[in-house]
Amino acid sequence: MKVALGVTGCIAAYKAAELLRQLQQRHLEVQVVMTRHAQEFIAPLTFAALSGQKVITEMFDRSGTASSNVESAIEHIAVAQSIDLLLVAPATADILGKFAHGVADDFLSTLYLATKAPVVIAPAMNCEMWDHPAVRENVATLQARGVRVVEPEEGYLACGMVGQGRLAANDKILEAVCETLGLVDDFVGETILITAGPTQEDIDPVRYITNRSSGKMGYALAEEALRRGAQVVLVSGPTALKPPSGVEFVPVRTAAEMGAAVKKHFKNSTIVIKAAAVADIRPAHPSASKIKKEKLPAAIALEPTEDILASLGRSKDGKFLVGFAAETGLTPEGTRQKLKSKNLDLLVANDLNEVGAGFDVDTNHVQLFRLDGSVRDVPLMAKARVAGKILDEINHLRKR
Ligand code: CTP
Repeated sequence: MKVALGVTGCIAAYKAAELLRQLQQRHLEVQVVMTRHAQEFIAPLTFAALSGQKVITEMFDRSGTASSNVESAIEHIAVAQSIDLLLVAPATADILGKFAHGVADDFLSTLYLATKAPVVIAPAMNCEMWDHPAVRENVATLQARGVRVVEPEEGYLACGMVGQGRLAANDKILEAVCETLGLVDDFVGETILITAGPTQEDIDPVRYITNRSSGKMGYALAEEALRRGAQVVLVSGPTALKPPSGVEFVPVRTAAEMGAAVKKHFKNSTIVIKAAAVADIRPAHPSASKIKKEKLPAAIALEPTEDILASLGRSKDGKFLVGFAAETGLTPEGTRQKLKSKNLDLLVANDLNEVGAGFDVDTNHVQLFRLDGSVRDVPLMAKARVAGKILDEINHLRKR
């Protein structure tokens, strides 16, 4: 998800640098927008270095030609469509007035009018200004329009006075952002290692054995885990999907590569979810050069790949281990047996014979097999929602 962080000219502008870091820790992509006055208090370079993105300070790029000026304006306005939230912190009395009255004389005020994304504002100013009827009316107008205002706090102000006007604590601002974006934090502090997609096992440099996994379930889990505050390492076989922004992405191709990547990241993870459809077999003698068609053998000798999940189960070290089982015809006894033999904490099973469940579709119907022998049925629903149910179950089981 992407947030535009508007910084306006006030002594608290430096606090926005730390706020930017905290937004990034919640895996949010941040585009910083500064007003001209904000740059009197803190340099755009600070935000550019922290966000890894150019800071927008002007409506037009005056350094270039007329056409590049127009291009930059169009590019900037595209920000309005691309963001999920506009946050202004600190927000001066001036920007509140512009927003309330539809004045669009710089980039930030234009962005406010141009975006349909929700808006969160954290004002900071002298207490007399905050109490002034003009400011009170502007705040009321914005709140009536649905803007969320994180009120300033009481305390010593930079001007030497004591009163309400100090920028709210970053944690409060972050809480308002997360609530507005629907981000929950029940996996903050967890590092979740997720595998997804198929693996490819080479016959020769051109041909390989693979399976029909699309990676959709694993990627949905990664997205959901990020949304709920986890650090996510996504080890993925080849898929057509874009990795969710915020994951540590580890692309692999073969079962052996997946095994090595998983073992490398296992140590630092607290939860492992193995949604990948790892090939169980691979050609025993892959050819280093392309086999001519007239020389293709009638049969290819195969050997088993390492069962990565079973290996992890043998050296579990207190981690919560979740396996997947895609079966054609589920038998509860067989599935329970798999849960035990691989030393798992939870097994997510689905029946490939069922319409809408399994490979390369956007929905799934799964059954969650627990260690105590009980089973929870998660009816057919979008994979994104199934991912939420799986994480709910993990949370529930870990708290017991
Ligand atoms: N798995 C793995 N390494 C393998 C094969 C499977 O880590 N070489 C993991 C998958 O990521 C998945 C789980 O094992 O979490 C399910 O495997 P499944 O498809 O049921 O295969 P098997 O356990 O090998 O079961 P079966 O004998 O029924 O094929």
